Amino acid sequence: MCSIIGYSGKLNLAAPLLVDSLKKMEYRGYDSVGIATLNNGNIMVSKGVGKVAEVDKELNLNRLPGQIGIGHTRWATHGGVNDKNAHPHYSCTSNIAVVHNGIIENYHELKTELANEGHIFKSQTDSEVIAHLLEKYSRISNNDIKKTMIETCKNLKGSFAFVAVFDNGIISGARFDEPLIIGISSQALFLSSDVLGFLKHTDKSIFLDNGDIVILENDNYTIFDDSGNVVQRPLTQVAWELGSSEKGKFAHYTLKEIHEQTSTLLKPLNDSNDFATFCEYLQRASNIYITGSGTSYNSGLLGKLLLSKYARKKSEVYMSSEFQYFSDTIEPNSVVIAISQSGETADVLHSVKKAKETGAKIVSIVNIPTSSLARMSDSYVTLNCGPEIGVAATKSFMSQLMILYKIVSTLSNQYVSLEGSELKNLQNLISKVLGLDDKIRNLINSLDSNIKDIYILGRSIHYPIALEGSLKIKELAYIHAEGIAAGELKHGPLALIDQESVVIVINPVDETHLDVISSANEIKSRGAYIIGLSNLRNEVYDAFIELPKVADYLYPVIEIIPLQLMSYYLAIKKQVDPDYPRNLAKSVTVK
Ligand code: M6R
Repeated sequence: MCSIIGYSGKLNLAAPLLVDSLKKMEYRGYDSVGIATLNNGNIMVSKGVGKVAEVDKELNLNRLPGQIGIGHTRWATHGGVNDKNAHPHYSCTSNIAVVHNGIIENYHELKTELANEGHIFKSQTDSEVIAHLLEKYSRISNNDIKKTMIETCKNLKGSFAFVAVFDNGIISGARFDEPLIIGISSQALFLSSDVLGFLKHTDKSIFLDNGDIVILENDNYTIFDDSGNVVQRPLTQVAWELGSSEKGKFAHYTLKEIHEQTSTLLKPLNDSNDFATFCEYLQRASNIYITGSGTSYNSGLLGKLLLSKYARKKSEVYMSSEFQYFSDTIEPNSVVIAISQSGETADVLHSVKKAKETGAKIVSIVNIPTSSLARMSDSYVTLNCGPEIGVAATKSFMSQLMILYKIVSTLSNQYVSLEGSELKNLQNLISKVLGLDDKIRNLINSLDSNIKDIYILGRSIHYPIALEGSLKIKELAYIHAEGIAAGELKHGPLALIDQESVVIVINPVDETHLDVISSANEIKSRGAYIIGLSNLRNEVYDAFIELPKVADYLYPVIEIIPLQLMSYYLAIKKQVDPDYPRNLAKSVTVK
């Protein structure tokens, strides 16, 4: 959930490179930022609360002198958001500085132990123990960095990756269940949480394995395992397109990514990577489980309904954070479909690890083919929708749905048809719905500024879209929102509805239409304001967003767009940053 970067090279001064890398990885956490550089044998640290550009403006981070260094953006887990808790953290003698991503589970014991030995702590973070452990073992080993790293890692429990700069000019990192990638160019070496941290300089990378430790010294790198044996890891060439992440003409990445959906829609369908094998696993399976978190869980939920309704395939869907408790119920010959944009979500990785232990096969749907999830899977397919920078998942959700439709189409013997002309038509319709942007902005601007609650109703395959729409509103606009299966309203939630409620009804003309109209009428008589999303106008709606007509099973793909736009404009109306919602991070690598 934090981003870490280390740089050792001849390209330039370290600081501007580090700051630039951190801007690219800010999606991973943006509470505070800091860098440390080595200048004439002294490690200099500059850090502060805020986003990279803000802190850089205030502290001139990029002017810090020095040829090598490390950097960090934080998503707070232990200790409040303040300058002291921002990384890098110094050892007592300031001859070592550390940046860390993950959680050190035994930090409390270690801190007590180290404090008793005389170490002085300056922050409330779990991370600072790493700097003091490094200091302790470098003293014991007489500055042998390899021994220092091995001993330090042996003492740490939890999932973590860290990078340290030593005042003798060495940068070293370790990877234990959090990502750490080496970027290699003729001029420089990088250690980074994401390839985005170095892709501007090189596309050659090495994805470290769990338990790997790496030392960068001058132009060389050495990787060894936690027992000290030198190991070789394969060189991977990363696609340059992964780095293309400009906002273009749009005010925010989120809006750009919503509008990109016309072009990203079909990309996962063209990427045939392993798709046949992926489907064979599902065809042969006796049991199918689906898992994911947040938006990816919502697409999994829709996947389950589509599989059951159109391919007559039963499956169970679990939120990844919950799946771990049921892994002992996984029966033989099971396949788990794991869905994750980042492929790095800790809850997903953990549940997949537990499922694998039972012998289940793992097939995954990811955006990043080099991600940990893809590498843990027996087969994977990619969303191919390009980098998604906005913390709220938008285009990746759409692409996940398209892959799920492709799977259902294959397993239903084309009952769900994704023929060329239909897809072309779908693409035109998506662009038509995106053309409602102005109308949606005006609608949102016409609403009361103090909306406290928004409810979204949908039945059947529209219910997961109601959940996803409400997640977008919560996340982007900080307004309480709830997706409700419309028929459940009378079993409780109706008590919440009053004249201040705003209710969005997802109501295309299909088998659910009339029942949803009845629910809308019940709500209307309690005084709520109703926004109808439908291809048929009805007098019960106070506001109406017209959806084009599509095959019944494809409505979810169309419906989500107005909800994404509404959430975005609610955030703008509230004057909060839609790209970086408070308290969140794009890649949630802690459990
Ligand atoms: O990278 P993943 O798809 O595994 O991420 C899972 C969730 O953290 C993610 O979808 C989150 O819910 C989004 N920010 C929602 O917009």
